[in-house]
Amino acid sequence: MTGPTGIPDPDQPLPTGEAKATAVRSMFDAIAPRYDLINRIMTFRLDVRWRKRTVRRLALPDGSAVLDLACGTGDLCRDLAAAGHRPVGMDLSWGMLA
Ligand SMILES: C[S@@+](CC[C@H](N)C(=O)[O-])C[C@H]1O[C@@H](n2cnc3c(N)ncnc32)[C@H](O)[C@@H]1O
Repeated sequence: MTGPTGIPDPDQPLPTGEAKATAVRSMFDAIAPRYDLINRIMTFRLDVRWRKRTVRRLALPDGSAVLDLACGTGDLCRDLAAAGHRPVGMDLSWGMLA
């Protein structure tokens, strides 16, 4: 179960099945507007380097089609596209995708 922020109440058992999907979606929808900023701050912008390194280490052939499942706000998709690949991002949260 979640409180008003969409964040799970640690005193309650974790949801399962469709209730879990609803809780995860609701939590990420709630934090989506600040997600990228928080990511940069919490990692001292290392997340930017981690994604670029990920794309390099994948060593994909030029123009590869890549599925980024749980893509969040699409940062990795942008780096994949910048490297000449064809990413498709999927995510549970419309807020993150938006
Ligand atoms: C911690 S964020 C990571 C986002 C992104 N991959 C990144 O590195 O910034 C986790 C993401 O996974 C998504 N997610 C969680 N469970 C999912 C599922 N079953 N199917 C699709 N997306 C899911 C959430 O909505 C959220 O956007």
